[in-house]
Amino acid sequence: MMDNMELISLIVITVLGCVALFLFLQRKNLCRPPCIEGWIPWIGAGFEFGKAPLEFIEKARIKCGPIFTVFAMGKRMTFVTEEEGIDVFLNSKHVNFELAVQNPVYRTASIPKNIFFTLHEKLYLMMKGKMGTFNLYQFIGPLTEELHEQLENLGTHGTMDLNNLVRHLLYPVTVNTLFSKGLFFTNKRKIKEFYQHFEIYDEGFEYGSQIPEWLLRNWSKSKRGLLALFAKNIPDIKAYKSAKDNSVAIMQAVLDILEMETNEQSPNYGLLTLWASLSNAVPIAFWTLAFVLSHPDIHKAIKKDISSVFGTAGKDKIKVSEDELKRLLLIKWCILEAIRLRAPGVITRKVVKPVKILNYTVPSGDLLMLSPFWLHRNPKYFPEPELFRPERWKKANLEKHAFLDCFMAFGSGKFQCPGRWFALLEIQICIILILYKYDCSLLDPLPKQSDLHLVGVPKPEGQCKIEYKQRI
Ligand code: HEM
Repeated sequence: MMDNMELISLIVITVLGCVALFLFLQRKNLCRPPCIEGWIPWIGAGFEFGKAPLEFIEKARIKCGPIFTVFAMGKRMTFVTEEEGIDVFLNSKHVNFELAVQNPVYRTASIPKNIFFTLHEKLYLMMKGKMGTFNLYQFIGPLTEELHEQLENLGTHGTMDLNNLVRHLLYPVTVNTLFSKGLFFTNKRKIKEFYQHFEIYDEGFEYGSQIPEWLLRNWSKSKRGLLALFAKNIPDIKAYKSAKDNSVAIMQAVLDILEMETNEQSPNYGLLTLWASLSNAVPIAFWTLAFVLSHPDIHKAIKKDISSVFGTAGKDKIKVSEDELKRLLLIKWCILEAIRLRAPGVITRKVVKPVKILNYTVPSGDLLMLSPFWLHRNPKYFPEPELFRPERWKKANLEKHAFLDCFMAFGSGKFQCPGRWFALLEIQICIILILYKYDCSLLDPLPKQSDLHLVGVPKPEGQCKIEYKQRI
């Protein structure tokens, strides 16, 4: 039998043990950034965060300071907003891109983990090379030709939702240039099927990257529809290469690497590349046109530049050269300024070993998040950040392919967006040809950006009509 003394000692030891454990946990938590975790288990702050994520991040920064954690849907996301954190995000060996995106890649394109890790770097380097600044000039001809072809469909004049207009131009132009001509755009039924599927897939991409597919029936159907479209076309994509011996098209190179490394011909990487190539570039073309057309002085200056390079006859199917593009710098500045103001909500890395930021330790397993959207609104780096001021890009050394400091819309570091130069080129030619061919004006005010998604650039909310009339 235990005597009284023994019992008291046991209680004292237990109490001291609990206090020690409590202090230890508290100290550990004290070292961690402040955390917004809500009160519902697992879901955490998920509901408030999901309602308007961009606004949530800014409010959290004001409340909690430059580094804070949001616990939502079982994940800890630690946001960094100032130099110290950004430096760790960009340069630390203890944070990893591939581990942060592997799961979303699996959910959205059904690419198995082992295949993703085996192929990612190889595919990335191939794309970076093919769409890099050395090879970029090869795209000018095909892009111009494709754009002329699509512009023909607009007729001599009309009124249209601007979002629809840029989609109907750039979806086929991008697919025909990067994948293979006529892949999804051969007959009306196929075109309609593609638009319907892609719209749903793109809209639900963020949910699809986090929630099991069986909970998103409609999205899952569109995902499978797009995969089936690709699967059916794999032989055509491969044949396109041999018919044209075209060193530009990248989809064949993706298929070649896949076949070499895995002995498979899966359509999954096609879907992922398709999404990456359309989901940001197309809304940016929208925003650039919308900003330009709602700033009459800038619109006028651009029209003058275009006339000085190409003349005024809007009917001609002009050819565009590298040299002429260099002379139309204002358009490039407008695109970059539109991207600055409508940059992706977040980019992300996984912490693989605890990292120190300011006085805090961010534990391994956290997702480290950086918001280009908010970074681009820091007046320290971009004075009068809310204003559309293309001239601020005068300071960027674009000849040397450098952006402005702290411009992070294409991510940064080892796996910076490999399609960035292609996107800029495609949008630049698109805008030149539209404004060369047509007199355009907006019939609605500049729309608001939607605050529904964090992945990728914000899309417009509601309609914005454009009126266009062929110049004579
Ligand atoms: C204005 C348009 C675009 C924007 C704002 C944009 C932005 C981004 C961002 C932020 C990332 C992640 C980088 C990081 O976390 O550091 C990314 C990755 C990527 N982008 Fe873009 N992008 C654009 C256009 C394109 C185009 C036209 C393509 C063409 C194929 C493309 C292909 C990719 C690919 C394949 C990746 C993944 C890279 C990897 O897996 O390592 N992007 N992009």
